[in-house]
Amino acid sequence: MKTTVSIIKADVGGWPGHSTMHPALMDEAKKELEKAKKAGVITDFHVTYCGDDLELILAHNKGVDNKEVHTLAWNTFKAATEVAKSLKLYGAGQDLLSDAFSGNIKGMGPGVAELEFEERKSEPIICFLMDKTDPGAFNLPIYKMFADPFNTAGLVIDPSMHAGFVFEVYDVYENKKKTLSVPEELYDLLAIIGNKSKYIIKRIYPKKGGKVPETEAVACVSTDKLSLIAGEYVGKDDPVAIVRCQSGLPAVGEAIEPFTFPHLVSGWMRGSHVGPLMPVGLADATPSRFDGPTRVVALGFQVANGKLIGPVDMFKDKAYDNARQKANKIADYMRRHGPFEPHRLPAEDMEYTTLPKVLTKLKDRFKQI
Ligand code: F6R
Ligand code: MG
Ligand code: MG
Repeated sequence: MKTTVSIIKADVGGWPGHSTMHPALMDEAKKELEKAKKAGVITDFHVTYCGDDLELILAHNKGVDNKEVHTLAWNTFKAATEVAKSLKLYGAGQDLLSDAFSGNIKGMGPGVAELEFEERKSEPIICFLMDKTDPGAFNLPIYKMFADPFNTAGLVIDPSMHAGFVFEVYDVYENKKKTLSVPEELYDLLAIIGNKSKYIIKRIYPKKGGKVPETEAVACVSTDKLSLIAGEYVGKDDPVAIVRCQSGLPAVGEAIEPFTFPHLVSGWMRGSHVGPLMPVGLADATPSRFDGPTRVVALGFQVANGKLIGPVDMFKDKAYDNARQKANKIADYMRRHGPFEPHRLPAEDMEYTTLPKVLTKLKDRFKQI
């Protein structure tokens, strides 16, 4: 029987402001999921957080986009929202965009990343959780994991990886997708995914002849852009991703290596700034300064017969101290720009803006030069 791992996440209330997660919300979520596990809807679960996002990591046998599993997640967020409301947490229920839930959580506000696979003899996965950024923040690290031989030695020296991988890329504005085969189409891939607010890596597939069937995705990123869903600002998407590792796929150490470079991502304060992505252990997944800087945590599990054996808090390791220090230096440097680009995002990518109002006010005062 195949196993599915789903990460379904939502911001249903922050403590304080948009900083982090109140433990009562996680307790409520655990209660709901424990019931569902007993009832056989899921085979296992892990409830956690990154910043102000409630993260449900679910294992089950029901495949991706499953109505029962998505309904469970939705109802769990609803229950946690009630707790958030009772504590008057900030933005209680903010990511649950509609009351008319129809069985698929996509487009309803929460973020979703899911992988269905035949469990291998041993099945290591890493769940990456980000807060205060958008899904484009995964483009660079996923590219490095699956296409950059300077990151992933296996692409060069492991015969079972040498053929490369297939990238499925979404155009989130046009609602279209395409696949590109790497290394053959490497430059085409880079030409589009460098535009990370429009083109987002959604899934990675192995090539034919590898150790994992070419039909089974080995990585998946949540690509739900809240701002596009709601037509107005309702919070950054705060994306998540699942990456399967080892034996013909990037080793665990290769999957987490890209995060030693705290690259610049969109998000941070009011979802309208550029800043570094800081890899942190769970205890430090608590954005503070200027509502950030943006965080990423990496939780490692072994999947065993539908059970999630873990998590191991990968970025807690001292080996990430330098990346954190560098991120803090970059944060200082970027913050000095105040409201100037490129610290502030270009107008079309900002999620808060007074610009139309300011321009209307000044309209008649602009004279022909
Ligand atoms: C970023 C984020 C926060 C808020 C900011 C203002 O994704 O959620 O930075 O945008 O705290 O929030 P409001 O407008 O609710 O006061
Ligand atoms: Mg929030
Ligand atoms: Mg958040």
